[in-house]
Amino acid sequence: MSQHKQKPRVSFEELKRLLREKLGGDAELLRGGWELIGDVLVLQLPGELYRHRYVIGETALHLHPRARSVVVRRGISHELRYPVAEVVAGERNTLTLHRENRCVFRVDPCRVMFSCGNQGERMRMARLELRGERVLDMFAGIGQFTIPMARHASPEKVVAIEKRPDTFELLCENVRLNRVEGVVEPLLGDCREVAPSGFADRVVMGYFFSPERFLGTALEALRSGGVVHYHTLAGKRELDAEGERVLGLIKELGYRGRVAERRVVKSYAPGRWHVVYDLEVG
Ligand SMILES: C[S@@+](CC[C@H](N)C(=O)[O-])C[C@H]1O[C@@H](n2cnc3c(N)ncnc32)[C@H](O)[C@@H]1O
Repeated sequence: MSQHKQKPRVSFEELKRLLREKLGGDAELLRGGWELIGDVLVLQLPGELYRHRYVIGETALHLHPRARSVVVRRGISHELRYPVAEVVAGERNTLTLHRENRCVFRVDPCRVMFSCGNQGERMRMARLELRGERVLDMFAGIGQFTIPMARHASPEKVVAIEKRPDTFELLCENVRLNRVEGVVEPLLGDCREVAPSGFADRVVMGYFFSPERFLGTALEALRSGGVVHYHTLAGKRELDAEGERVLGLIKELGYRGRVAERRVVKSYAPGRWHVVYDLEVG
């Protein structure tokens, strides 16, 4: 084991302190913390610090006891959510195994989105009482919601749809690693084309870019009403209005609904929240 692996837990503030010695006042620009996904440490840097990314990466790598690689993420591109990310220190291969809530996720933070900020929502999905329920996860990713539900909430079945073939491969591997093959049926394709209709008691719409485009598919997937977990982005003062707007869309599509619960999942950008509405649809 290398020396830095034996160090005790460290804080992001400690990284800042070390960087002050190397970068002077520029270190003050560092903010937002870091995320450890498996043994890959993910940092987001403000543009002004980007030119220092290798120094920051090496410093973080030697400081963090569990990091094998350090990745700088600059954003997400494309509707299929490709991270714009670069390995700035340590091993180039960033395929890793992330453990959380007695689930394991094979994930490559340079290729697919895995947000530590969504952990609370993954835990909430795991705590649902789903005995006897059929669930449709329309945007399954690597199984961020599918796996905790299947492992902990006892659904009868989860159909998990993912459009990107490389992400789908990870989803299938995670189904095997978590031994939920008997419960989860992964489906490759666009959810608007491959989602079963009249199947689900609950639909998870974990994708927040113009999710209204997919609402019709979600409603048709319900067998006789049920719950739709509708994720979206909204301004802090728009939360009520956004709920009303979605209920209006549901009505236009010929269904009746109500907001049973609303949760802020995380802050997404200044003044913008990632929100989930639990919609009861009749
Ligand atoms: C941001 S990830 C979210 C994964 C997970 N639901 C979560 O919230 O953590 C969204 C996933 O939806 C997939 N996706 C996007 N459009 C899709 C579509 N039309 N049909 C199926 N999957 C889609 C993307 O490839 C990506 O893996």
